[in-house]
Amino acid sequence: MAALQSFLKLGLNKSRAYKQLHQHLRHFCFAASGTGNGDRSQTFQGSSQISHGHKEIAAGMRKPYKDNNEVFDIGDLVSKEPFKQFLSWFDQARKTDDIKEANAMALATATKDGIPSVRMVLMKGIDDSAIYFYTNYLSQKAKELDENPHCSLMFYWELLNKSVRISGVAQRVSKEESTDYFHSRPKASQIGACVSLQSSVVKDRKVLDERNQELTEKYSDSTSIIPKPDFWGGYKVIPTRFEFWQGQTNRLHDRIVFRKPLSGETINPETTHRGSDGWVFERLMP
Ligand SMILES: Cc1cc2nc3c(=O)[nH]c(=O)nc-3n(C[C@H](O)[C@H](O)[C@H](O)COP(=O)(O)O)c2cc1C
Repeated sequence: MAALQSFLKLGLNKSRAYKQLHQHLRHFCFAASGTGNGDRSQTFQGSSQISHGHKEIAAGMRKPYKDNNEVFDIGDLVSKEPFKQFLSWFDQARKTDDIKEANAMALATATKDGIPSVRMVLMKGIDDSAIYFYTNYLSQKAKELDENPHCSLMFYWELLNKSVRISGVAQRVSKEESTDYFHSRPKASQIGACVSLQSSVVKDRKVLDERNQELTEKYSDSTSIIPKPDFWGGYKVIPTRFEFWQGQTNRLHDRIVFRKPLSGETINPETTHRGSDGWVFERLMP
């Protein structure tokens, strides 16, 4: 009842408030009814808890992570530099059947005044110095990267209880590199990139469908080459920091960070290990 009242307070009319309540009850019951999870069922003590609203719904979603014997420790690193370590985790994620887009990552940018924004993009390449993605150079993210190249990437592979957070600086890739990648994409994706002036306002869906149809007809000949628009291309993010996070059921999560030391920094050998290629690595408290 209290939950219903709180939905009503949000300005919802009675029928919408009932609908919201119904959805939240379903969500809560789903969260509380998993298999073999003592931790989760402990938090489900009947409908009175629902009256506390979103806080209890989230508490009901607590899930077991790794056993203590599966900790991720310094000795488990496959490399003393972060790119190989990243590739090892990425490979594990890529080979996990139920992870459909292991290369999906959140990209956080900020304006030069520090106003942040975040969205998902797909990692399309990685080498020993950078991570690559492709986008529209007129989009919000591109405008922000152009005025403030500092950004952050986050991969989260829920099924592995692992995530990787990367901080770095973005640069546009060369036009040749973007063109090569553009032409490696399926034709429909190339046309889609031409159609969309990403992040600008459009009257309706029809405008996009018509433009798409027009270009599909124009380039219907299988030998035709679709020119890459100037407003589309890649960025590479050159990392200065990688954090490898692995969740543990007792909440003593593992966090191992690779970073480039500050100039003149004195390294404390008790906490901080010298890696290769100028990296150092250390453990953070969870
Ligand atoms: C899983 C996933 C992958 C995405 N991959 C890309 C991508 O590689 N490039 C891209 O420009 N947008 C991608 N998008 C769409 C973006 O999240 C976003 O809507 C779009 O880029 C506009 O962002 P902006 O207005 O902040 O620039 C993806 C969305 C999702 C959910």
